Amino acid sequence: MFTLEPEIPLSDEEFRLIRDLIYNHCGLYFDSDATYLLEKRLSKRLQFHHFAGFRDYYHFLKYNRNRDQELSDIMDLLTTNETYFFREAFQLKAFTDEIIPALRAMKMKSGDRTLRIWSAGCSSGEEPYTIAMLLLEMGGFAGWQVEIIGTDICQRVIQQARKGLYGKSSFRVTDDSYIRRYFTEQDGMYRVNDKVRELVTISHLNLLDANRIALLGCMDVIYCRNVIIYFDQLARRKVIDSFYRTLHEGGYLLLGHSESLMNISTAFTLKHFKNDMVYQKPFPGGAGGGL
Ligand SMILES: C[S@@+](CC[C@H](N)C(=O)[O-])C[C@H]1O[C@@H](n2cnc3c(N)ncnc32)[C@H](O)[C@@H]1O
Repeated sequence: MFTLEPEIPLSDEEFRLIRDLIYNHCGLYFDSDATYLLEKRLSKRLQFHHFAGFRDYYHFLKYNRNRDQELSDIMDLLTTNETYFFREAFQLKAFTDEIIPALRAMKMKSGDRTLRIWSAGCSSGEEPYTIAMLLLEMGGFAGWQVEIIGTDICQRVIQQARKGLYGKSSFRVTDDSYIRRYFTEQDGMYRVNDKVRELVTISHLNLLDANRIALLGCMDVIYCRNVIIYFDQLARRKVIDSFYRTLHEGGYLLLGHSESLMNISTAFTLKHFKNDMVYQKPFPGGAGGGL
């Protein structure tokens, strides 16, 4: 006979307290339609800590000395981590055919041989590894220092990204030739090869933590796709301001296809490429910088 674990009820007031606490921590905003979702997913944590109700759990999250660890654990339960290799093909084509050639030409002129790309909210790593494969395919970076930094708030997906081991669903739009060249089969899964991994560093980072972001240093391109859709307007503004500060002048910000900076920021220029439109941090005085 099986028994169902009793679920612990989440009152409206407790929902608002916990919702606001999560929002202030990471920018994820749950409206009242999500009461059941929070109740269901967080009940597991209450049972784990043997709390009788959500009010005690709220006090734990707010005041306990282990609150950071607990907040990190609940990120693993509340984030949407859907991703796959070569997602958003048009934008990737703009990246290889137009953005990288433009950046390369600009950097050749100034004698700068570094390229730094940030995949912000990289989930299990398919996005930064896709970027690495595309750069390897393009070639022409001998003597350059190329860095791709993947970051996420969710420890579970960071561990997956570091392992670099993927199943079928990650390859739903991947050309077989990439699998042959850049992966090794292992017990029905595929491990990303060292020459791809060498370009990629994976770290834990909360996008609302502007101080930690400042430590990353300047970037030429920031990918932040399908992350800010889960934030409210204020959290989006905070994150986009951090991206603006982090980008070099002339650097690019690539959002997901359903995301835009409308009502969030006017600091970027919308750049029309053949394959896509992307945001660019303007050069001082609005000069085109030869791009
Ligand atoms: C839907 S996935 C997108 C993955 C990838 N960028 C893509 O487009 O395929 C969204 C990721 O954003 C991460 N995320 C959500 N809030 C975050 C925050 N405050 N800081 C960092 N990452 C966050 C989630 O953990 C999740 O892995």
